[in-house]
This record gives sequence, C-alpha cells and structure tokens, in this order.
Amino acid sequence: MTNDLAQLGLPVVFFFNETDSTNTAAKRLILEGKISEDAVITCARQTNGRGRRGRSWLDDGGNSLCVTLVKKLDIAEHLERLPLAVALGVYDALSSFSTNLGIKWPNDILCGGKKLSGILVELFDSYALMGVGVNVLNVDFPDEIKSIATSLRILGANAPCKDDVLIKLVECVFSSVKAISSDEAFSAALVRYKAVSLTIHKHVCVFGAAGTATGFVKDFDDVGRIILVDNNGYESIIDVGDVSLREVK
Ligand code: BTN
Repeated sequence: MTNDLAQLGLPVVFFFNETDSTNTAAKRLILEGKISEDAVITCARQTNGRGRRGRSWLDDGGNSLCVTLVKKLDIAEHLERLPLAVALGVYDALSSFSTNLGIKWPNDILCGGKKLSGILVELFDSYALMGVGVNVLNVDFPDEIKSIATSLRILGANAPCKDDVLIKLVECVFSSVKAISSDEAFSAALVRYKAVSLTIHKHVCVFGAAGTATGFVKDFDDVGRIILVDNNGYESIIDVGDVSLREVK
C-alpha cells in the first residue's frame, strides 16, 4: 500500500495498528516535527474517532477506514472552500466502488438515506487536517447507528478492501482540493457539488451555530454556504451546521 501511495507522489504515510483518532495523531505528529509536507495518517483500528459538532465516529471492530490527509497550507488559499472540495473528492473516490451516492450538506456521503462516510476538516498550525471515515467492511452496526449507517459491503460494492479505498481517497481528495486556489476550477467544482447534492432544493431543518432554522434550500453561495429561504420569504446564509433532510414545510 505504501508503495502505491508513493507512486501518487506522497512522501509520508504513517500507519498505526491502533490510535485514538487519526486527526489527533496528525496533530501530535505535527507538534513532534515529524510532518513537514503533505502526509497520510491511517490505522487498522481507531478507538476514539471524532466527528463534526462534538459527535464521535464509531470504528466498530476496525471495519471502517479511518484516515487523515494532511495538506500543508499556502497562506493565500481560500480555506472556506475546503470542506466542499474535500466532500467532492471523497464522493468521487467512493463513486468508483458504489453508485447512487450523494452529498448531504456540508460533507456527509450518503446512499439510500444512510451515511457511508463522514468528514472532519480541522485547521492546525499551518496544515489542513482532512479526516475521513468510510464504512467499508461493516456487515452490521451498533444499535445507536443501525438505522442511519451503511457500508460499501452492505451496498454490495465489489468486495473492496480498506487499502483499495484508501488509495482512491488519497488520489481523489488531494486532486480535488487543488481546486480551492483557482476561481475557475472551484466554480466547476461547485457546479458538480450541486449536481450530487441531496440538500439543494429541499425543505430542511438546519441545526446551525445560531440555533435551528427551517426553510427551503434555494441554492449554495459561491463558497458552498446554504442560502435558506424561510416561510416568510426571508433569506439567510448558513455556513456551519447540520441538516435534517426530513421535509419541513
Ligand atoms: C462526522 O460525520 O461528523 C465526521 C466523522 C469523521 C470521522 C473521521 S475517521 C478519521 C478521522 N479521525 C477522526 O477522529 N475523525 C475523522
């Protein structure tokens, strides 16, 4: 696997049999001075995976792929574009294993209404940490997520192993994030994001930093924030939060 990644031009791959969180491990490696360029951190089993908005990521029995892609930041980059670009890269990678995937704003990859992959983007020092969890080998899930989670194996994907998925993710995500520094490339990415969005043109409930809002997702703005229209026709822009896709009128 390391050789395959080296062929993609990635100099550093850190593999742990077990770690608490690959994002947290990335921070430790940066603080220890062991990362100076783009890097990949992954593990056989993650014990304390972190999700967005204080959630956790359950790596039940090591069946999910847990990886953090580390990108050295150029100060001139448009960081607000990063979550969308990472989501599109993960979507592209997983689409080579399964069909009918979509992106729930901002960056969950779903199939049939169930979550296949979650993404946690963090900025640390002069690096972007792009943490991706993908359910690959799971045949079942713990009770608390049984009704909302799926895996590549459950979807009948062509028996992928975690290494195959990792290699595809590294290729697609690093390629996708290049778009953030070009207005033209990012506009094209936004068009593709909208085409595979499960959130656009839906009545939704958004749990954002300023509370809960309901309305119709009219569009995404030029960096991928939600343009929400409420029942009175009032428009607001939402940049962080979670969306419930249940139809709310
Ligand atoms: C979410 O769905 O809220 C995001 C989940 C992100 C999970 C991945 S697993 C690899 C990386 N390490 C972590 O601790 N979290 C991310």
